[in-house]
Amino acid sequence: QQKKTLLGKRVLISAGPTKERIDPVRFMSNHSSGKMGYQLAEVAQQLGAEVTLVSGPVNLASPVGVKLIQIETADEMYQAMVESFDQQDIVIKAAAVADYRPVKQHDKKLKKQDGDLAIEMERTQDILKALGEKKTNQYLVGFAAESDNHMNYGEKKLKEKNLDAIVINDISNPSIGFQSDQNEVTFMTNDQHDFFKSASKNTIATQIFNRIIEEIGVD
Ligand code: PMT
Repeated sequence: QQKKTLLGKRVLISAGPTKERIDPVRFMSNHSSGKMGYQLAEVAQQLGAEVTLVSGPVNLASPVGVKLIQIETADEMYQAMVESFDQQDIVIKAAAVADYRPVKQHDKKLKKQDGDLAIEMERTQDILKALGEKKTNQYLVGFAAESDNHMNYGEKKLKEKNLDAIVINDISNPSIGFQSDQNEVTFMTNDQHDFFKSASKNTIATQIFNRIIEEIGVD
């Protein structure tokens, strides 16, 4: 029987990719399967927390006992996260959010033409940064998917986005990170780095919550 260390705590997690529409049949997205975020939601629920999971389009069953909010675009994820942020104790952004979306979403399928096609893109909102600015008592954790210079980029995001911790993924290794059932991460706070060696995403999620629980000081 698992100790319900997070009983009475509210946890908000984002997972999966976002999908940005070009026309009725085409979109831009990424390789996130949602597995990491869904494992975090499952572990938090088993620890007794009241869990809300904001998820992009994935092929995973909703974890039992978790409130699931399904979204498609970065903008919809922003709305859902901001709406429930104030009531939360712990917020983890494991989603892979699009940084850009097409400026124009066409109502009709784009016709093939001679020559090349350029699609103009605009920036989406940085959800994590917005939450960092709104933060009062929430323990806010970001993820960083990096293919080089992991620690430096991770540290930069930790500071710039006003996070309490960041989980750094090395996405240059195909056996971990995106899509895989395994992950290997560094959990970084302002004064501690913990390396969690390759293990199932369920184990990594448990290790992440153990560190968060240590940091927020519940027994
Ligand atoms: O879903 P899986 O297949 O299990 O794979 C897991 C994962 C690799 C997707 C996940 O563990 C991970 O690393 N997620 C973060 C991916 C990412 O988009 O990283 P980033 O370095 O681009 O973004 C940094 C942080 O800012 C992330 O917490 C992201 O959610 C957030 N962000 C990014 C852009 C944006 N517009 N808004 C955001 O909130």
